Amino acid sequence: MSATLKNDRLIKALLRKPVDITPVWIMRQAGRYLPEYRATRLKAGDFLTLCQTPELACEVTLQPIDRFQLDAAIIFSDILTIPDAMGLGLKLIESVGPKFENSISCLNDIKNLPLPDPENELRYVMDAIRLVRGELSGSIPLIGFSGSPWTLATYMIEGGSSKEFIKAKKMLQEDPDALHLLLNHLSESVILYLNAQINAGAQAIMIFDTWGGILTTSAYMEFSLFYMKKICDHLENKFNGLTVPVILFTKGSHLWVDDIAKTGCDAISLDWQCNIGEARRKVGDRVALQGNMNPAVLKEKKETIVKEVESILGSYGRGPGHIFNLGHGITPDIDPENVEVLIEAVHDLSMKYHAK
Ligand code: CP3
Repeated sequence: MSATLKNDRLIKALLRKPVDITPVWIMRQAGRYLPEYRATRLKAGDFLTLCQTPELACEVTLQPIDRFQLDAAIIFSDILTIPDAMGLGLKLIESVGPKFENSISCLNDIKNLPLPDPENELRYVMDAIRLVRGELSGSIPLIGFSGSPWTLATYMIEGGSSKEFIKAKKMLQEDPDALHLLLNHLSESVILYLNAQINAGAQAIMIFDTWGGILTTSAYMEFSLFYMKKICDHLENKFNGLTVPVILFTKGSHLWVDDIAKTGCDAISLDWQCNIGEARRKVGDRVALQGNMNPAVLKEKKETIVKEVESILGSYGRGPGHIFNLGHGITPDIDPENVEVLIEAVHDLSMKYHAK
């Protein structure tokens, strides 16, 4: 593996192999907290054009890599590319969030959904991946990603972001067969999309299930985790002889880590509300753990950030299988200098947890 990647800490840690120091990357590391991101976004005109122009998506993917000692890049895109490619018509409205021109309200809408060809309607994502891999030239791995079927379904049914998820919960209660049809269709699309990303050059995969945590335990198993397992079962495990690890992230899932570990994923990404040491005791040596600092800590002074890093590293404890990250995406109000403090602290303070 090291023959192809100069820094393969992320891949090693995801596979629970020994590393010298704990790898670190940050959810939404290419984003509005970076002035250079805001400049490129302005040049693009709007967020979707930024996603759909491979040269610009490549440029912003690399911005945090040029600035910080990160152990991974994540392709700049969005989870809502799939519903958009299915013809829902995505718009990102400033200070409102994503909105769809067409939403899903009945069985007929679901039956009429096309299955996007990743190398056609979503080719811009694959082209961006190919460009980024060329630019990285083997320095660090590139992560590809998708939304989970359940999380994508909530946006498609609600027609955009939501606080209460009334329509999605109503379909779950009143027409579970229709919802299952939608989730099956989305799973098929996500499998095609992620396998195409792997073939284009993604070296690890993350599935974002931002809204799985709003479900009851039994509904989570039936409507969210079941489909993420199906995706894990159908992803190309190896590319060019190298394992492509899969990370599952369900916000609000700490009570379910044992079930998540059974899906065949390689790692679970934890939000900040749980204790990573406790999660480690539950999953044992079955999966690696990613996380889990509260993004709000990045608003604090440097000493507080360092202390929090130390506390999370200590809670995970000795040995491999930890990837440092935030428990959710970095917010636009963060000073980039504090991100540097975080990354340096992870690298400096984690050495003792990996010493022989
Ligand atoms: O992590 C990375 O650096 C890769 C880029 C990435 C984006 N979105 C860029 C983005 C990733 C991995 C996502 C995933 C995503 N998108 C999720 C799952 C992860 C999570 O945060 O829970 C969800 C739910 C979405 C849907 C989405 N996209 C929302 C709700 C919004 C609006 C909220 C916001 O932050 O403005 C977006 C827009 C979006 N996606 C932005 C970025 C950088 C901001 C757009 C802008 O530049 O104005």
